[in-house]
Amino acid sequence: MKVDVLLGLQWGDEGKGKVVDVLTPRYDVVCRFQGGPNAGHTLEFNEQKYVLRSIPSGIFQGDKINVIGNGVVLDPALFKVEVEQLMASGHPLTERLLISKKAHLILPTHRLLDAANEASKGAGKIGTTGKGIGPTYTDKVSRNGLRVGDLLNNFDAKYKAATDRHKTILDQMNFKYNLASIEKEWFEGVECLKQFKFIDSEHFINKKLKEKKGVLCEGAQGTMLDIDFGSYPFVTSSNTICAGACTGLGVAPRNIGNVYGIFKAYCTRVGSGPFPTELFDEIGQLLRDNGHEYGSVTGRPRRCGWIDLVALRYAIMINGVSDLIMMKSDVMDNFDSIKACVAYQVNGEETEEFPFDINEGVEPIYTELPGWKTDMTKMQSEDEFPEEFNNYLSFLEEQLGVRIKIVSVGPDRAQTIERYNH
Ligand code: GDP
Ligand code: IMO
Ligand code: MG
Repeated sequence: MKVDVLLGLQWGDEGKGKVVDVLTPRYDVVCRFQGGPNAGHTLEFNEQKYVLRSIPSGIFQGDKINVIGNGVVLDPALFKVEVEQLMASGHPLTERLLISKKAHLILPTHRLLDAANEASKGAGKIGTTGKGIGPTYTDKVSRNGLRVGDLLNNFDAKYKAATDRHKTILDQMNFKYNLASIEKEWFEGVECLKQFKFIDSEHFINKKLKEKKGVLCEGAQGTMLDIDFGSYPFVTSSNTICAGACTGLGVAPRNIGNVYGIFKAYCTRVGSGPFPTELFDEIGQLLRDNGHEYGSVTGRPRRCGWIDLVALRYAIMINGVSDLIMMKSDVMDNFDSIKACVAYQVNGEETEEFPFDINEGVEPIYTELPGWKTDMTKMQSEDEFPEEFNNYLSFLEEQLGVRIKIVSVGPDRAQTIERYNH
């Protein structure tokens, strides 16, 4: 048996949480493999809305096992908040959530370092989520990190050594901070975390594959935020691409099965960094209003623009996407016409290849298609799709070279349509 991977193809917030929840009944295990509480994955069902940050989005479907893999960075304080919210809404999870001993811990001082780094960059700041993601992955790579498994063995000394080192850096940066209160919450979080089973998740997952169990890997962020292939330096600090599931879970490349690539029918981005198809006009505002494009966690307004097929083709190539999933087309249900960027003009030359640097000199070249002008939010089957919408799907499939297997027409679990004829 192979693992399937579901991941974002744009700049995050494509709707990964919703679709993982919808697909979970087909699997036995759902795993997160990278990122941390910088993610905000929204699920809606039975008129309830939940936002998950570190816990996989398979947690609401029966007794499925959910795993936080070694590639994830975990903040115990935020984890505790998430656990308590789920418990309070009647979703006990201690038996169903397993945590890799090798996942790295986000320390309170990592959060402070994130803030200090951003402050030091001034106008060039990344616009991070402020959750300590970059500094935690930096410590991992520089071999200074603390892992979940360390909590069980002489932790206090390791914690002190790490925070002393961080405090020296913060002092050198002249960054003023108050550690006491966040440290208290953090250690309360550690006690909460210890109620869960810490496992060698690479063994667990490979055993499940041998037993022919279905495993779904849930990506966080999106391909254009990948540390290697995203719009560097305006990226996150992990490999958000399909290969991240191999390193973030201990799954061999030959054991990757279907790769589900999710994209919005338009495009959004939060934080700084280039965004060639960004709209600064009333259409951009309409996308933001219709799509409620405000961060799930931070509430920051998301930047909005037309779909970028150059970036999407690149993301499909890097990830080996086998099936596409299109989200939020309902946001454009009342549009007269829709634009799609099919190529870039870079320094006077037209290209369909994603260039090294999209920070400057990139002009999108658009094709315009008629809108479908139909409320699709209550549709249940592809047979109900208006002709213009089918034409939009065919156009995208032709441009992208991969079938669109699922279309989402609203935030609720039930507003999801599979295309069986394709
Ligand atoms: P994720 O980080 O990829 O899981 O996505 P987010 O949860 O951050 O953002 C997606 C937002 O769009 C959430 O508020 C979802 O409830 C919402 N959403 C998901 N699918 C659809 C859809 O098809 N239509 C509409 N209108 N909203 C959707
Ligand atoms: P989900 O999983 C959208 C963005 C931040 C910032 C950059 C680096 O919900 O799609 P970081 O805190 O990771 O160091 O920030 O990445 N970012 C996201 N944008 N969705 C996310 O997650 C994101 N996680 C990080 O806004 O630009
Ligand atoms: Mg999100």
